Amino acid sequence: MVRTDRPKNYGDYLRLDRLLSCQEPASTMSGSEAHDETLFIVVHQVYELWFKEILHELDSVIKMFREDYVDERNIGIAVTRVHRMVEIQKLMIDQIRILETMSPLDFLDFRGSLGGYSGFQSFQFRLIEAKLGLKREDRLVYSDRPYDSDLPDHEREILRKAEAEPTLFEVIERWLERTPFLEFGNFVFLDAYRQAADRMLDAELKAVHSDSALPEDVRNVRLKRVQDSQEHFLSVLQQEKHEKLRTEGHRRLSYKATLAALLINLYCDQPILHMPFTFLSGLLDIDEQFTLWRYRHTLMVHRMIGRKVGTGGSAGFDYLRLTVEKHKIFTDFFNLSTLLIPRSELPPLTEQVQRDLGFFYTTRKG
Ligand code: HEM
Repeated sequence: MVRTDRPKNYGDYLRLDRLLSCQEPASTMSGSEAHDETLFIVVHQVYELWFKEILHELDSVIKMFREDYVDERNIGIAVTRVHRMVEIQKLMIDQIRILETMSPLDFLDFRGSLGGYSGFQSFQFRLIEAKLGLKREDRLVYSDRPYDSDLPDHEREILRKAEAEPTLFEVIERWLERTPFLEFGNFVFLDAYRQAADRMLDAELKAVHSDSALPEDVRNVRLKRVQDSQEHFLSVLQQEKHEKLRTEGHRRLSYKATLAALLINLYCDQPILHMPFTFLSGLLDIDEQFTLWRYRHTLMVHRMIGRKVGTGGSAGFDYLRLTVEKHKIFTDFFNLSTLLIPRSELPPLTEQVQRDLGFFYTTRKG
């Protein structure tokens, strides 16, 4: 919103008259006000304010990465903003403790007044999820109804638009895809990485085979684990394998972006890759904090209402418990750690590569 008048004082600047006059307990309508409903309302309103701030930061980061070229200074700004979002998320998790000073019986004093209203209908929360990159088809559905079916039309429309526009996941994927990691003169990242990974996995296999103290069954389990790792490495070394996993829904990130993210993770000590690495780590923090929030909220719900159905009509605790795993967004970035090899085994980057990367991450345009 654009302000058109000059603020007269502190209260006017912050519009406190409006802000502080919207705590209206619904329990008053049934005769007696439930004491704890004010806390319930204030806590939810504070959340909605933090959601607003997160959206403000998220929009700005998406905008920076939507461009075909991303100035390195912008990566620094994006890192700061992602860090801010993460700090807000931590506070959001801590806030749950305040609500838990209300007992389940205190909650029952006014739960009936809530009718069919639920945080499930938080439009801003849904917008954050959509803008981060949670896809409609990947959401957990209950009662066969779309997750936004209870929202007013204009909010549903904004959500649809956000889903159709590039999300944080997608702009980061495209940014990574533009990293010039395959054609570095005589340094071919994938070949160098393949040799290093083969050496590492061979050494692991030999170590298992040559350990005569291992009982047969334990040896077989360990050998199977190394073979599984080899399979996982193949998904990066062979594009067809990666594409097959993507088609089956086991991977989301494109092949090129996966390789670029791997390069950034492996060579994160290189000064030029340090900022991109910090940025990617920030995305993992966002996902991790949301997962923690979901889990913490689920625990609180279990404590408050046990296994009753939610006011929004879901199975309550059981529904929320499943969203903790299902609604993660940057899982592919977490999985990259499976593919890391020790620093001692890393093929060194040639000077040409370092120069090219420096050029890409600092000055490249168009
Ligand atoms: C006494 C406290 C609370 C209880 C008992 C509670 C209960 C529930 C339940 C049962 C659901 C599942 C949907 C449904 O059937 O209603 C839900 C969803 C949700 N609640 Fe709460 N909630 C509480 C506090 C909060 C607070 C403080 C927030 C902050 C905004 C919040 C945000 C949400 C959100 C965003 C969802 C949707 C989660 C998803 O679908 O992934 N809840 N809540």
